[in-house]
Amino acid sequence: MSEKKLDLFEQKIAREEKIEPNEFMPDDYRRTLIRQISQHAHSEVVGMLPEGNWITRAPTLKRKLGLLAKVQDEGGHGLYLYCAAETLGITRSEMNQQLLTGKAKYSSIFNYPTPTWADIGAIGWLVDGAAIMNQIPLCRCSFGPYARAMVRICKEESFHQRQGFEIMMTLSFGTKDQRDMAQSALDRWWWPALMMFGPSDKDSLNTNKSVKWKIKRFTNDQLRNKFVDAMVPQAKKLRLTIPDKKLSWNQNNNNGKGGYDFGEIDWDEFKRVINGDGPMNRERIAAKKSAWEEGAWVRRATAAYAARGTTSSTSTSKGVL
Ligand code: 3HC
Repeated sequence: MSEKKLDLFEQKIAREEKIEPNEFMPDDYRRTLIRQISQHAHSEVVGMLPEGNWITRAPTLKRKLGLLAKVQDEGGHGLYLYCAAETLGITRSEMNQQLLTGKAKYSSIFNYPTPTWADIGAIGWLVDGAAIMNQIPLCRCSFGPYARAMVRICKEESFHQRQGFEIMMTLSFGTKDQRDMAQSALDRWWWPALMMFGPSDKDSLNTNKSVKWKIKRFTNDQLRNKFVDAMVPQAKKLRLTIPDKKLSWNQNNNNGKGGYDFGEIDWDEFKRVINGDGPMNRERIAAKKSAWEEGAWVRRATAAYAARGTTSSTSTSKGVL
């Protein structure tokens, strides 16, 4: 790699200009992006499973329509992100193999079960809430296709978060049973939601270089702290209790602006889940494997259709689906 090219690349990043796929980039920048974007895409599509599980059981037609649309949105997010990763020189099928063989991770959060309707509210409120906190800064990522995909994704995730909050509101101001259901969903999802932001800064392998290259704009701990500060008042509005006895206001946080201190995350649990041993890891991967196998005829049909030269915009030379 010539020093001059590297220098120009770094200057572009310093000027807040986007790096586009056909331009020079260091190999490690490309590798980091492929890793992060593909894992992000896998998270979106695996995230369809715990919620998809409730589509047939949503309590009303209105809730069913809302959930159906949300799950479809997540599928769309996966597609934008797979396309953004493909511009870096990896195929959809390679990414899929990495997911199915465990080489690529997906968000730890989707390895937890959704036993009640309130879990769907808690996912929208907390999981999409954490996703937005993490993803709004990605709209300013230095890599153009990822940043542009994130703009639309964030708009939709914000709507999902409102929808989840509204479900929690209905339950927590409903009957005692509904309220208890909302509280126990919060108890189940709070700590896994905090884990979504990744390991603490001292243990994060990739944060320093990703911040230097403006892929990430904040560290994992910075975003986690912002999330807790945003969620505590929302939980109060819902009249629900965050399951953390150590949660307390500390005026010294955020350079004297104040912020919440909170308890220690169970990092052993986090490591178990990201290494394949969470409550639902096996089930999730089995579902993705069977979807891939059952979808083989669609890929064959699309490839055959493309080979006849009768399509233009709906298929690519790679025949990816
Ligand atoms: N779940 C699974 N793996 C995680 C993780 C989590 N919550 N947090 C970190 N990891 C993995 C990393 O991927 C990395 O593994 P690898 O080296 O094998 O790739 C390792 O743990 C070390 O973590 P680092 O902090 O060094 O990794 P990053 O700098 O990549 O930071 C991240 C992790 C903050 C998750 C970052 O990758 C990121 O911002 N990704 C984009 C957003 C994303 O993927 N979100 C998924 C959330 S779900 C979602 O968006 C769906 C929506 O519908 C709710």
